[in-house]
Amino acid sequence: MCGIFGLITNQNVNIGKVALDGISRLEYRGYDSCGIVSQSNGKLEIKKDSGKIREIQEKLHLEKLTGKIALAHTRWATHGPPNKINSHPHTDCTGDIAVIHNGIIENFMELKKDLVSKGHEFKSETDTEIIPHLIEDNIKAGMNFRDAVIQTLKRCRGAYGIATCYAKNPEYIIIGRKESPIIVGIEEGKTSYCASDIPALLPYTKNCYIMGDDELAILKPGEVEFYDISNSVKLIEKQPQLIKWDVDAAEKGGYEHFMLKEIFEEPKAMKKTLKIAPKNLKKFATLLNSAENVYITAAGTSFYASLAGKFIISRFLGKYIQAIECSEFQTQLNNSLEDDAVIIAVSQSGETVDTIEAIRWAKENHSNIKILSITNIVGSSITRYSDHTLITQAGPEIGVAATKTYCTQVLTLALIGLEIAKMRKQIPDQDIDKYYKALKETPNVIEEFLNKNVENIKRIVDNLEKNANYFFLARGISIATAKEGGLKLKEVACRFIEGYSAAHAKHGPISLVREGFPIIFIAPPDETYERLIGNVMEFKARGGQIISLVVSDDETIAELSDITIKIPQPATKYYNLFSPLTFIPALQLLAYYAAIKNGLDPDKPLNLAKTVTVH
Ligand code: M6R
Repeated sequence: MCGIFGLITNQNVNIGKVALDGISRLEYRGYDSCGIVSQSNGKLEIKKDSGKIREIQEKLHLEKLTGKIALAHTRWATHGPPNKINSHPHTDCTGDIAVIHNGIIENFMELKKDLVSKGHEFKSETDTEIIPHLIEDNIKAGMNFRDAVIQTLKRCRGAYGIATCYAKNPEYIIIGRKESPIIVGIEEGKTSYCASDIPALLPYTKNCYIMGDDELAILKPGEVEFYDISNSVKLIEKQPQLIKWDVDAAEKGGYEHFMLKEIFEEPKAMKKTLKIAPKNLKKFATLLNSAENVYITAAGTSFYASLAGKFIISRFLGKYIQAIECSEFQTQLNNSLEDDAVIIAVSQSGETVDTIEAIRWAKENHSNIKILSITNIVGSSITRYSDHTLITQAGPEIGVAATKTYCTQVLTLALIGLEIAKMRKQIPDQDIDKYYKALKETPNVIEEFLNKNVENIKRIVDNLEKNANYFFLARGISIATAKEGGLKLKEVACRFIEGYSAAHAKHGPISLVREGFPIIFIAPPDETYERLIGNVMEFKARGGQIISLVVSDDETIAELSDITIKIPQPATKYYNLFSPLTFIPALQLLAYYAAIKNGLDPDKPLNLAKTVTVH
């Protein structure tokens, strides 16, 4: 959460504009306030305020900042409301040291008390502000800027990605990391950049240095030095990682919103993900096959992808996989996690703090545990705690609502499932071939659906929006689809939609149903279909308006429904198993157009940020 971007250059560039572009590319990380500091002629100039970047830009003209150093920040508030004073950068008492920060300094109260007793004056309610004051104290005690920052970070507990500059030191800026991501990109001999995420660096370089925990970097124009500061301070060598994303992939490319663009990119992202190297899938399959106990853990959309994935894998593995939300993982398994379990962790960003904490706790307390992760981001934190990682090939996802990454996650889990099926030889080869064929067809099914259904979905949204609440109901594997569809609508359209088991709904939720209450049934023709008909009837009998998501040649549930959305796929068991992939775009589009109809920005849902790096 929070986006950091910074640069130091010896080139004649419009530094305010470059910094502004940098944070604009990271706005999905937080968008309640923003600010930039620039450094020139021994002075810092800061422009900051609350609001979206575009609004602040119009008011303050951030691009007019000049100099050879700039640090920029877009905030998701934790400590102190989103107002001008709490927005970053924060400075010390002299106004010469500026800091931008992503993360939480857990011991800030105690540090602040100490600083106040020494006469430091604080302006904001943030935890961040203690950092420039601590640096100031250390400089006053005779340390140079670098050592002052190192000693400051050593006193901070919690998580941070920071960047700092000092008006009296035009030679370098400093960045540091513990748990909150920060990366470095270099244009050799000219400019050095730092950012909390890859899209901000794509216009300048595809070679990124990914900082590890307790590392610090000194950035000079076009050069960088890295230090390990965990114990004594050691200069370290780091190799850059090549990022294969195109700069265009992080642009809207003619679409009104990233969310819509990313839904339409699903077929392409899935086709790329289908090419994951079989040898890497095999590593996952081998470990899962030999494990006694398997868990899968994640948050939000990644958790719902995990629910779909565990269903598919369990089917071929012949063992039940327990899915546990990452924030509950440690509490629920405190006394029962087996020493030799295998844990699959799924995270688009690879930085979700609760997911990281779950696997770190498991690894630290159980020496034989194996961690298998699935993420979209090369070099992200999750990869460091994993024995093996698979990288989904969704490309950058900028919309806060996860869409194409959900599809690539479910697809990757399905590929693992089929690899296990091949390994175990419990089902005939011809069947496995048919499952593969169906899975490989899913991007085409989605493409066809998207190309033909936009107007249809808009019409349904027009009809639905008269009503405040509704249900998404399903059975079996489609409960994952119902939950993910419900999450999308809550998140971007601000409507209360419950994704629920159709069978379980009659144990309480059905009491909400009145004449015209809309219920969307997700109804692939799988083994749950006949029972789902019964559930449709129950809701219909109570006056519910039935909207169904069915395959093209469905007749029964379609006939019982007031509105039908048809997914162009064959009604075979091979396709049905992958219906969480082919059915979800309809619900994503529904959420998108509902947001538009409600006058909301689907790319920046209220109170959210794309990557959740706080507990
Ligand atoms: O980066 P991760 O996949 O770990 O993120 C997990 C959730 O925060 C994320 O899926 C969130 O629920 C999305 N905003 C949903 O659209």
